[in-house]
This record gives sequence, C-alpha cells and structure tokens, in this order.
Amino acid sequence: MSVKDQIEAIASEARDQLAGVTDAGALEEWRIAVLGRKSPLQSVLRSLGELPADMRREAGRIANVLKQELDGALDVKREELGRQKIAETETSGRIDVSLPARPIGAGRLHPITQTQRDVVHAFVAQGFSVIEGPEVELDYYNFEALRIPKDHPARELMDTFYIDREDDSDTKLLLRTHTSPNQIRFMESHDPPIRVICPGRTYRNEATDPSHEWMITQTEVLAVDRGLTLAHLKGTLFEFAKRLFGRERKIRFRCDFFRFVEPGVDMAIDCFLCGGSGCRTCKQEGWIEILGAGMVHPEILSKMGYDPDIYTGFAAGLGVERIAMLRYGVDDIRHFYENDIRFLRQF
Ligand code: DAH
Repeated sequence: MSVKDQIEAIASEARDQLAGVTDAGALEEWRIAVLGRKSPLQSVLRSLGELPADMRREAGRIANVLKQELDGALDVKREELGRQKIAETETSGRIDVSLPARPIGAGRLHPITQTQRDVVHAFVAQGFSVIEGPEVELDYYNFEALRIPKDHPARELMDTFYIDREDDSDTKLLLRTHTSPNQIRFMESHDPPIRVICPGRTYRNEATDPSHEWMITQTEVLAVDRGLTLAHLKGTLFEFAKRLFGRERKIRFRCDFFRFVEPGVDMAIDCFLCGGSGCRTCKQEGWIEILGAGMVHPEILSKMGYDPDIYTGFAAGLGVERIAMLRYGVDDIRHFYENDIRFLRQF
C-alpha cells in the first residue's frame, strides 16, 4: 500500500470512530489512539524520512492536512459534548444547590503596602498629615533645592533614571531618588506650623543585590514650627520605632551627613531579635540603622521664606523595604518585587 493510501485508510477509520464517540472519556481515548505519540498516523509521519525526497514532500503534505482536520474535528466534538452535558443537567434538574460554594480566593495587601500603612499610622497617630508628590520630579526639587548642586559628589550616591537630557536644573526631569523633594514642595506652598509625612516610591540606578533594588519605597517626615529642637526629632522618631518594633526598644543617634539638614543623624534601634547582644540580623552589632534624619538646614528655611531665627524644623527619611525586611526576617529585598506567589502568600 502506498503511503498516501495508508494515510487515507487511517483517516477514514478515525472519522468513523469519532462519529461513534458519545462522552468525554471516549473522546480522550480516541485522541490518544488517533493523534497520540503511538498512533498509526504518528508512525507514518516518522517513517516519511525513509522515502525519496519528492514522495516525502507530497506524503508529508497529505499527512499534515489530515492531522489538521483531525485536530479540528476533535475541538468540534469536544464542544458538542460540553453543550450536550449542560443541556442534560438543565433538563434533568440535577443541579445540587445544597453543595457548598467554591471558596473565593481572597487577596491581601502586599507586605510593603502593609508595612507602609503601619509606618504612616505611627506618624498620623502623632498628629502628622499625609501628602504625596510626583515620582517624575524636576532636578531642581530632587537635588538643587536640597543643596545638592550639579557636580556635587552627593549626587553620585543617587544616580537615577533621566527622563530627558536638558541640562537646566529647572526643567530637567528625572525619577526621584528620594521623597525629600516633597519637603521643598510643601514648604513652598505652606506656612508653619508644618507636620507632614510623604510616603511613596523612589528610584535609583542600582546594580541590584540582596540589599539594593532600583525601586524602593520611602517615607519622608517634616515638621517646622517655632522652637522645634533635636529633642522633638528624637521623641517623634523614638515613638515611631516603638510602635513598629516594640515598646521596649532603645534608640541610638549618631552623626551623619545629608546636605539638606544640619546637624544630620542616623538613627538605630537596639536589635529586637537578640536584644543587643549580637546576631545575624544586626550583623553582630546589636544595633540596626533604620533611618536618616536631621534639623532642616537654615539656608533652606530662609529660601522658603521662613525666618530661621524664629522657625526650626526636623526631617527624616526612611526606607520601607528595609523596615519590612527587619520585621518579617526577609533576607533579600528582591523577593518583594519578583511576584512569586509562594513568597507573597506568607504575609
Ligand atoms: N533622603 C535621604 C536618602 O534617601 C534620607 C534622609 C536623610 C531624609 C535625612 C531626610 C533627612 O529627611 O533629614 O538617603
């Protein structure tokens, strides 16, 4: 028998068999027998290689046409059986309404959103209001107005993504590297007393590793009023740390440098896991740095039109991912944004 005849014989048998199929189980058996790996059709296809080239092309074409036809017939039959089944259930009235419903998969908030909300709450409870600002920011607000002029080395720690290549800091657009520009934006349009926080996403041109991401969430804190001192800064941030990490926390302030505050500090809490004796989480130091802060630079206050002899202010900026990592014991920041459901389900 020629290959063509063989294929046609297979085809007509397959069509006859399909006509007799009346349920899903039989249809699956038919599929395996006719289109499966061990089907006669497949063995014909496999043996094509032994034919001379011109015959092989012709036989291959016929076999493929047949295969497509059978695939199509399978789909049609499947639908037909499905429709029949629904019609049968409807007429026989055999829908069991007493069966328990399928559970609806309830979603939940992303761990960063949860932590961000707790951070926000810790300040709102102390009388702060929440503001927001643009993620695409002017160079002016992100750097210049915060006393980080063009070519200043402080910019090197905050390389970012530029939206355009204008060189003028008043019009140049970039993705903000921190939430601090909103200090300026808010002071420009408000008079003291000021008590605001600004949560939001920030961006940096980073090579990612377990503690660096190119997008992180921050929360900025700003208070300006008559007579605010470092003591107010300490009190407010201490209360924040206790709310997030437990009432028994201790805090440590050390000098740090940020262009827009004077003096600048970094704040650490005693390690809530080992209580200060040293462990992996605190890198054996007993202390964990959680934020940068300081007294608003007097030069900025005057630029905003406030008299620095009357008004003083404090500011702070914290990274939400870092706080979430500490709270939940997550050892790699990149887990938060890989969208792996097995990770996210745990929160
Ligand atoms: N913006 C700084 C950063 O992203 C953090 C910071 C430090 C914010 C000191 C402040 C501050 O408001 O006073 O690295």
